[in-house]
Amino acid sequence: MRTKIVAGNWKMNNDLKESKSLTKKIIKSIKKTALKNTRVIIAPTFVNIERVAKKAKGTKVEVAAQNMHFEKSGAFTGEVSAEMIKAVGSKIVILGHSERRQYFGETDEMLAKKVNTALANKMEVIFCFGEVLDERKANNHFKVVESQLKNALFHLEAKDFKNIILAYEPVWAIGTGETASPEQAQEIHAFIRKILTDKYDEATAESISILYGGSVKPANAKEIFSKQDVDGGLIGGAALNKDDFKAIIDAI
Ligand code: 13P
Repeated sequence: MRTKIVAGNWKMNNDLKESKSLTKKIIKSIKKTALKNTRVIIAPTFVNIERVAKKAKGTKVEVAAQNMHFEKSGAFTGEVSAEMIKAVGSKIVILGHSERRQYFGETDEMLAKKVNTALANKMEVIFCFGEVLDERKANNHFKVVESQLKNALFHLEAKDFKNIILAYEPVWAIGTGETASPEQAQEIHAFIRKILTDKYDEATAESISILYGGSVKPANAKEIFSKQDVDGGLIGGAALNKDDFKAIIDAI
């Protein structure tokens, strides 16, 4: 059975005090919840990872970073390496988020390097991809998604996918209140599994958790998660509120 995952991407929100407080609340809220085959991950900003990870240690909550550089060290002002992230207590990293691609110029080529570095460091990757509105309108979303996966991931071997979580996030649904319909999510998730089967094999494709992200809320989570190929969600706005995040976890 594929692992279900609810991951909260806090983006550039929550200072240290808020991060500690929200972490504490999330840990408490799921303490008595039987998380059958489900992982709960939160991704604070770099500067708060260490304190959040300390609070989360030994609990049901895991901690991820939101980005990472592909080099080990060097003259890369403002960047953070895999080793640095691991040293403060996180072994999971979100890569390829559309905000990184859109505002910080991340390319498939850079992402391929980042993925390699993360895997070489035995980190798990939550790999994000998805089309923008014009691409969806032009019915190009399948092509776009395929090329994003191909360019950044398809140099990997099948066994590497044990440490990859996919997150389909249509850019037009992020922070807009507009969600892909459960059918749209299912359609593309099934397509992703098909191209993984074609490139690798069915067992590999069937074992990978594919999350949906984009305006997931307590009100729509259950329906989206009910789809066969949707294995959970990458949550932005609703992950900043402990009740909403808990309700989304309960919906899985
Ligand atoms: P929203 O849930 O705020 O739309 O954000 C989704 C997202 O970008 C998660 O990475």
